[in-house]
Amino acid sequence: MKFFIDTAEIDEIKDLAATGMVDGVTTNPTLIMKAGRDFIEVTREICAVVDGPVSAEVTAMEAGAMVTEARKLLEIALNIAIKVPLTWDGLKACKALTDDGHMVNVTLCFSANQALLAAKAGATFISPFIGRLDDIGLDGMELVADIRQIYDNYGIQTQLLAASIRTVNHVATAAKIGADVATIPPGVVRQLIRHPLTDKGIDTFLADWAKTGQKILS
Ligand code: E4P
Repeated sequence: MKFFIDTAEIDEIKDLAATGMVDGVTTNPTLIMKAGRDFIEVTREICAVVDGPVSAEVTAMEAGAMVTEARKLLEIALNIAIKVPLTWDGLKACKALTDDGHMVNVTLCFSANQALLAAKAGATFISPFIGRLDDIGLDGMELVADIRQIYDNYGIQTQLLAASIRTVNHVATAAKIGADVATIPPGVVRQLIRHPLTDKGIDTFLADWAKTGQKILS
């Protein structure tokens, strides 16, 4: 499963990219607002740090205007993936942009039927929002599993991108289901490594090593 980082915070992206585990980045208008940076400028910086797809979202609501915005965003770098909302206009823009060979991430997906429509419009990525479904008492992971099954039934190439991830369990479950990508907030990525037995094991090894009185480098 590829790891995208769900943030527009450039320092977080740089730090995590140094581990080699960042396969891409997703942003949205809320994340740009939180970063407090100019959209084009920060997106250019992100694209310089990360080789993989960097999702930048259009804000127009009409297909032609979405494509015009997309063309401006595509000038930023070759690894831009255009994010469009899951509306009829978004799907028309998706079709036009993917026909031209660009990557498109169809966002705000909350049903299997929406995911099917996005695939038929040629989406490169479909983004089901797990956490937001959980927030209203539904099961976001059930949607991820449904989309996986439907896409596999028909050999659909659209990549299943698990989004709105809030917990480490979301990450492991998305991987078990077979999501192609998970876009994960930096805070959750950092939690993935944590295990009390790892910490305990290190403490024990260091304490026992000290008792030997030895040093690897003299
Ligand atoms: C995905 O591309 C979105 O930016 C993101 O995952 C939304 O997550 P949220 O529901 O936590 O805002």
